[in-house]
Amino acid sequence: MCGIVGYIGTRQAQDVLISGLSKLEYRGYDSAGVAVKDGDHISVEKKAGKLANLSTVLEQHPLAGTLGIGHTRWATHGLPNDTNAHPHASEDGRIVIIHNGIIENYLPLKEELMARGHVFRSETDSEVLVHLIEEKYEQTGGDLYEAVRLALGDVRGAYGIVVTHADHREIVAARTVSPMVMGVGQGEMFLASDVPALLNYTREMVFLHDGDMVVLHDDGFKVTDLAGNPVTRQIEHIDWDAEAAEKGGYDSYMMKEIYEQPNALTNTLIGRLHDDTGEVNLDINLDPKSFKRISIIACGTAFYAGMVGEYLIEQLARIPVDIDVASEYRYRDPLVSENTLAIVMSQSGETIDTLEALREAKKFGAKTLGIINAKGSSMTREVDDTLYIHAGPEIGVASTKAYTSMVSAMLMLALWLGRARGTLAEAEGRELLHAARELPRLVEESLTPERIENVKRIAAKYADAKDFLFLGRGVNSPTAYEGALKLKEISYIHAEAYAAGEMKHGPIALIDENMPVVVVATESKLLEKTISNVQEVRARKGKVIAILTDGDTENARHADDVIYVPRTHEMVSPVVNAVAMQLLAIFIADKLGKDVDKPRNLAKAVTVE
Ligand code: F6R
Repeated sequence: MCGIVGYIGTRQAQDVLISGLSKLEYRGYDSAGVAVKDGDHISVEKKAGKLANLSTVLEQHPLAGTLGIGHTRWATHGLPNDTNAHPHASEDGRIVIIHNGIIENYLPLKEELMARGHVFRSETDSEVLVHLIEEKYEQTGGDLYEAVRLALGDVRGAYGIVVTHADHREIVAARTVSPMVMGVGQGEMFLASDVPALLNYTREMVFLHDGDMVVLHDDGFKVTDLAGNPVTRQIEHIDWDAEAAEKGGYDSYMMKEIYEQPNALTNTLIGRLHDDTGEVNLDINLDPKSFKRISIIACGTAFYAGMVGEYLIEQLARIPVDIDVASEYRYRDPLVSENTLAIVMSQSGETIDTLEALREAKKFGAKTLGIINAKGSSMTREVDDTLYIHAGPEIGVASTKAYTSMVSAMLMLALWLGRARGTLAEAEGRELLHAARELPRLVEESLTPERIENVKRIAAKYADAKDFLFLGRGVNSPTAYEGALKLKEISYIHAEAYAAGEMKHGPIALIDENMPVVVVATESKLLEKTISNVQEVRARKGKVIAILTDGDTENARHADDVIYVPRTHEMVSPVVNAVAMQLLAIFIADKLGKDVDKPRNLAKAVTVE
């Protein structure tokens, strides 16, 4: 989410850092900062707001020096102000760090560090890292690499971390979850969170893997694992142009964002679910027992994520939930009272229908919660509290990672409510919590080359169809709606979705040998019933594309084609199943030669009624 740049060499570091950070602007940010080392002194400059604010200050008062680190922040913990901006420096100003990601156990660490006399200046989780490294630096007698390595042993979470020290001409970095790439030059070395930041300087790059640490010197680098064992990483020549680099080498932002989902989900879930205690900590300022009814309000893809939420909350927390598309809610004189919790869901936080519906709910005294991606967006300023999904900037117009992150946020909310209201048995709560924590891994597993090839083959087979039907039941009926929406918006093929049991009440008349029917038939309490619906399609010569759980060869017999997905808990499965829907839609659109990032007639944030 945040952007990172590091430099050691012969150029003025400030120029490299600002140029690199400017290439990461598309990631969005709310503050920026640099630290530049000159001799044995490090100067730090940081500013809230756009990178231009920082650049202006640096133009007036340049920081000289040929080693530096820089950061653009997309706030997770703490307001986007100058103090919370990175880099963070140790109390003596000798160590500086920048950090992407979230430190899950920062609160207990912070308390321990404060008890040992450390004084914290910011509200960020990242600041614990600099204090920890400071302690370890003393313990190791001034070994920066070892100090960082030991400090990372104490933290849980996701990080891309870059550190330097006034007494050392080196940069130490490490990554877990958060991406990091190293650029190799002649007598100079670079680091960044993304390739575009470095393309003006070098095309020789090393992609660091999860759990890698690296030490950069002017003339080279050394990679180890977190245990300190040497690791070999190849230098790759990158011939992407600037646009391809922004897309991470994928053909489209949408594809990049599909592949980013394991990461996005980690960021959504991290620090919020605790396996050891079974607790859910959402850090939201609402009394879970104070409302009698929940209204979910959203548009488009966010609305379908809300539909999953309706199933989850009613099941796990036993609170009546109603759900509306925002454009209807605004005008239908809804029944709202002080006992209502109105939840608005939005990637952009700017969709005017949802914003106006939020205002309507507030007018009648509802408590309000936003499930939102974009920091500081209009909705976040008007709700009582926000559960950020932390999916990172989404650029492709068709929503992908924001959907799966919103569904995961809903799952956490339902677990939190269920626990607080005593409607969720301890064992079931723990089982679901564990299943949720597995989601990044399961989504990663959904994107293996073999699975991709299978979906591509199916997409090619059906790309000429004029209409599609999507079916699902229970918590996966919204998955069918979302699948149909994804297909129609990027391929312009007509697609409809129904709760599978509803098909016989009308849409069945459409089915003939020209109608592909995508059926979500993963393991669930209603699987047998779903398979009966599949038989009804087959009896009318419809072509069945079934989404099945890995290993379900029994039900594969009823389908023309199968997309297998990893096994998971039914309540969690909408996240995994959505990925199959996204892949089917994008490969059909690709086959038809459509521009998936800019579908006709659509806009990323709809700010008109
Ligand atoms: C579909 C899509 C739209 C949005 C909708 C709401 O892929 O992206 O349907 O979901 O316009 O947008 P947000 O979530 O920004 O309120």
